[in-house]
Amino acid sequence: MEIKNQIIFQKGLDSYEFAPIGEDDVTNHYVKALQDQKSYVQNIHENISLEKQKAYVKKIRLSKDDGIFGLLVNGQLIGTSGVQNIIGPGFTTIGIFVFDKINRKKGYGKTLVWASSYLLSQTLGCSKFSAGMEKTNIASFKTFKACGYDILKEGKYDIFQESKDCFIMKLNAPDLVVPEDISGVRLA
Ligand SMILES: CC(C)(COP(=O)(O)OP(=O)(O)OC[C@H]1O[C@@H](n2cnc3c(N)ncnc32)[C@H](O)[C@@H]1OP(=O)(O)O)[C@@H](O)C(=O)NCCC(=O)NCCS
Repeated sequence: MEIKNQIIFQKGLDSYEFAPIGEDDVTNHYVKALQDQKSYVQNIHENISLEKQKAYVKKIRLSKDDGIFGLLVNGQLIGTSGVQNIIGPGFTTIGIFVFDKINRKKGYGKTLVWASSYLLSQTLGCSKFSAGMEKTNIASFKTFKACGYDILKEGKYDIFQESKDCFIMKLNAPDLVVPEDISGVRLA
């Protein structure tokens, strides 16, 4: 869906922006990161190319209640957050991705989870969130956990036609935990 809102904030000395992205934000760097990662959520198609990813982002932008956001740190796109079921009943689902392995374990994942949950609850009235990950994806589990998410259920889910042991985590908006060092948050 067309989302107009964004958040601007500081983390330590760095300037952050969390804003919806469109086709023009899909770069070769973004696509290469997706190709290197292979897969992490159900809705990424195989053989990702620049054109296919642009079309995918456009489809989300024109969708009824899905969205895709980028996290910019000092003007550089570090990662994305894909959100589903923004206006529908039930849980709004969040999936996060930090492009470069060199940028992982630096707090960007937590910032993506916090910013997604915060923006959607403050501006679009979302009140409960969920996220799914394979049980082996410790990084994802710990990232959502650190932001206040907890296990809702666990079980076998199909990811790319393969049955995988997964956790589904959930958060009620008031339980959202703000990562350390975030200040000067402005909704725009
Ligand atoms: C999941 C992902 C977004 C996490 O991003 P990140 O920037 O590394 O996360 P953070 O730096 O905010 O780390 C959050 C917590 O997880 C821990 N963590 C991160 N990666 C870890 C790993 N590989 N092993 C163990 N712990 C890890 C951090 O130490 C931190 O814990 P703390 O709060 O106790 O300090 C990133 O690994 C990624 O993009 N993975 C590929 C895509 C994916 O799997 N997405 C999740 C599907 S929804």
